[in-house]
Amino acid sequence: MGTSDTLGKQPEVFNYGVVRQFAIMTVVWGIVGMAVGVWIAAQLIWPELNFDIPWLSYGRLRPLHTNAVIFAFGGSALFATSYYVVQRTSQARLFSDKLAAFTFWGWQAVIVAAVITLPLGITSTKEYAELEWPIDILIALVWVAYAIVFFGTIAKRRVKHIYVANWFFGSYILTIAVLHIFNNLEMPVSLWKSYSIYAGVQDAMVQWWYGHNAVGFFLTTSFLGMMYYFVPKQAERPIFSYRLSIVHFWALAFTYMWAGPHHLLYTSLPDWTQSLGMALSLILLAPSWGGMINGIMTMSGAWHKLRTDPILKFLVVALSFYGMSTFEGSMMSIRTVNALSHYTDWTVGHVHSGALGWVAMITFGSLYYLIPRLFGRTTMYSVKAIEVHFWIATLGVVLYIASMWIAGVMQGLMWRATGADGTLTYSFVEAVKATYPFYAIRLLGGLMFLTGVVIMFWNTIMTVRVGVKGVNPEVPLYSPDARDPALRMPAPATA
Ligand code: HEM
Ligand code: HEM
Repeated sequence: MGTSDTLGKQPEVFNYGVVRQFAIMTVVWGIVGMAVGVWIAAQLIWPELNFDIPWLSYGRLRPLHTNAVIFAFGGSALFATSYYVVQRTSQARLFSDKLAAFTFWGWQAVIVAAVITLPLGITSTKEYAELEWPIDILIALVWVAYAIVFFGTIAKRRVKHIYVANWFFGSYILTIAVLHIFNNLEMPVSLWKSYSIYAGVQDAMVQWWYGHNAVGFFLTTSFLGMMYYFVPKQAERPIFSYRLSIVHFWALAFTYMWAGPHHLLYTSLPDWTQSLGMALSLILLAPSWGGMINGIMTMSGAWHKLRTDPILKFLVVALSFYGMSTFEGSMMSIRTVNALSHYTDWTVGHVHSGALGWVAMITFGSLYYLIPRLFGRTTMYSVKAIEVHFWIATLGVVLYIASMWIAGVMQGLMWRATGADGTLTYSFVEAVKATYPFYAIRLLGGLMFLTGVVIMFWNTIMTVRVGVKGVNPEVPLYSPDARDPALRMPAPATA
């Protein structure tokens, strides 16, 4: 592999070095995070898989899984694609190579710190914000550097307009900074222990304002940025409606902020706050589908390519899962639906239809576009392997989410069933026993999904090796590509 800013001998116009580093680490952390997911899925069937070692207990590995897949896998994918997209669409090199390198090494240090501290049981206990205060400070520093690099590049852009993908990436960078800082305001009592400065229901509200917007901005808005670049590029069509992209961007950013209370329905949170959260969650469906429709409609005139192009298959299926999981989420925000779904595996099914179906699939599609170009090739080493990855991943998600839906609805119904005299029809353990077959199906789906990422890893290694040996002159690595199709504005709606 070349050094951080060269591939072969010539220096590059854009800083692709940091993009390469993040792209490779996305695949590596994908394997690690999802392997831990498969492991905890197996533990739910065979608890003895913790081998009686506290470090390997379910309660410690679960946050390791969520942190690894969201922040290590998802985060690395977002750094890679946002740095690539902002340079291409601004026609400018990253604002600072040194700061960009700091974001790479700093982010990897955060991940390694998570991998060490979480199994040790060092945790702030806030979901998706478990890391303790010294690591929180490092995250804040990396994030500020990220913002400087990203917005600095926008500031020195050589084209007038700011391509819409950058709006999405930019809003995610700003929002995550605010969420991270305010949710992690805490009093350290020792090097590895702190307590939240909020108390009681305020603490819960701040936590789910953070939690929901982590979903909204870390797992959604940012990946829409990815979608807005890679779908038009791979389909070789301009985005369907530039106007719609702006309208749904502002609507999405505004609405997400208010939806957090749907995580706290039927709690001591004031009723009016719960109702507001529920109403805004229903409204959220409109901007969410605005993005989905804009992505899908970009395929107009390119649908025939789906037959032969596995990368497009990834991107389109990702959009479909995005539409489906946001519809499901809005429905689950309705109090009476949530009364059934809350605490059950339905929630876990919903999470993974978003996480596997949307976040991971859009990432795979985008990286399959990106990796060959970063290493001087036009395609991945094996297109057949992309096709195999696509099918195995799609079947894996379907097995995962269908089993969790059935398990979830079954659990909800069993827990609420009462006899004529008002006593519970089923004991809790009966519901647990009835869930085992579905846990087995989920495990199979997870294993398939993980196998797909391992295939991707092999394909990536082969692409890098072949790419570095003979840099393909067809790929404009050393000169900015002024005619980037994703930059083309669509014709006005009336035309
Ligand atoms: C091979 C793939 C995967 C498997 C087998 C897997 C498995 C699991 C399991 C067993 C749980 C715990 C569920 C429970 O406590 O009942 C879980 C939770 C979770 N996973 Fe995954 N996972 C996978 C991939 C992913 C990916 C790629 C993401 C995100 C991008 C993700 C995000 C989450 C989140 C956010 C939770 C917490 C859900 C909640 O609190 O309701 N997972 N996963
Ligand atoms: C319109 C969009 C969405 C709405 C209104 C929504 C709504 C909801 C609701 C009501 C819950 C259950 C809360 C509970 O009963 O505890 C939930 C949980 C969750 N959703 Fe969504 N959702 C949406 C989209 C998504 C997407 C696209 C993803 C992933 C990429 C996602 C990830 C999650 C996660 C991780 C949780 C579990 C949080 C936890 O308890 O740990 N959601 N969502």
